[in-house]
Amino acid sequence: MVKVDYSGAESFFRGSGPDFALAAQAHRTFADKSGAGADFTGWAELPRRIRDTELDAIVRTAELIRSRSKALVVIGIGGSYLGARGAIELLRPLPGKDDPKVFFAGNGLSPDYLCDVLEQLGDMDFDVNVISKSGTTLEPAVSFRIFRELLAKKYGDKADEHIFATTDARRGALKSLADQRGWPCFVVPDDVGGRFSVLSAVGLLPMAVAGIDVRRVIDAAIAEFEALDLRSPENPAWQYAAVRQHLYGTGKTVEILGCYEPSFRFMAEWWKQLYGESEGKDGIGIFPASVEFTADLHSMGQYIQAGPRDLMETIVRFNKCRSSYAVPFEAADADGLNYVAGRDLAEVCRVAADAVKAAHIEGGVPNLVVEVEERNEEGFAALVCFFELACAISGYMSGVNPFDQPGVEAYKKNMFRMLGKPGAK
Ligand code: PA5
Repeated sequence: MVKVDYSGAESFFRGSGPDFALAAQAHRTFADKSGAGADFTGWAELPRRIRDTELDAIVRTAELIRSRSKALVVIGIGGSYLGARGAIELLRPLPGKDDPKVFFAGNGLSPDYLCDVLEQLGDMDFDVNVISKSGTTLEPAVSFRIFRELLAKKYGDKADEHIFATTDARRGALKSLADQRGWPCFVVPDDVGGRFSVLSAVGLLPMAVAGIDVRRVIDAAIAEFEALDLRSPENPAWQYAAVRQHLYGTGKTVEILGCYEPSFRFMAEWWKQLYGESEGKDGIGIFPASVEFTADLHSMGQYIQAGPRDLMETIVRFNKCRSSYAVPFEAADADGLNYVAGRDLAEVCRVAADAVKAAHIEGGVPNLVVEVEERNEEGFAALVCFFELACAISGYMSGVNPFDQPGVEAYKKNMFRMLGKPGAK
């Protein structure tokens, strides 16, 4: 389990502090499936379910793709891509020599981005994993049409063999097309929304192709969700949810998620969607932002230290680094750096993190630390399960339905009308 250290927030507590009784009630509401959106809470059972159903097929498909292709193009947007991208960048930031390169497409409408992907793909052999629960989202649908044309040019009547669809089990345009064309299908379960779907085939197939051991991820996630069922203020999900909700009540309306590992960047994007889409509704919600330390200390550091005091900060910390590298000693010491010579970069980074934490608290920014053991499959699973459960608890504590996203329809309505989609009003 992750550990939450909120000692850096305590001096900002008001009145009786975080409401653990409310967190307990929110956890009960979630577990009993008695709250709003209860039909979309299947993600907590997902690791167990997937182990007993699709996991073998996912691993076999990934092996097939790894054995024959140099690249996988993952087409999806929002919850249909951020988890996989977060996992791959966190765990395999640079592909190994036998790993296919994973490209992401369909997560926007930029022709420049698309052409860059096509250029990098060049004449590599590739497969496509198209991921869309609804099957009707414009961005991935347009991109998929383009890649289908490319596959047809490259592989002729064998093109269909290079397509794998991850979509609804029964409904939607993608499901119908897949059935017509005979593409193998993986399922986005009915009771799992996009932003909670990373531990389904949505995340697992691209992760397995990239060389991540998804069986380890799933075994760890099963254990994590069990451990997180703890009904006590010792539960890190209660601590995180209760502390951030309390701080929100004191005027800390923006939460910045930071990490000292650049490979965490897309996990932070995944987290932003998870919390933003779950909590930002009915006129309330903590605004989720993210920073990459130490890089952003040289750009955003000023604002965090001395801008409006509506910020709280959560730092994800990996206790063990994968590598070590000592700063070299130089007899001449022309750059004056011998005071750190012989010290490992991990130690220098840890000292920097402690210094930043102290400065930010002093500057009026409450600090929480989410501690994870290692940047590996187990660490990834621990983070996902923790943030998902804490999100549900935090959402219920604030009184919203954490599992819907009615607000994302507004722009689509306008866009479809303006693009002239038949039937759009
Ligand atoms: O969390 C969500 O529901 C969204 O981010 C969706 O995942 C995203 O809009 C993509 O939808 P779909 O998978 O239906 O194409």
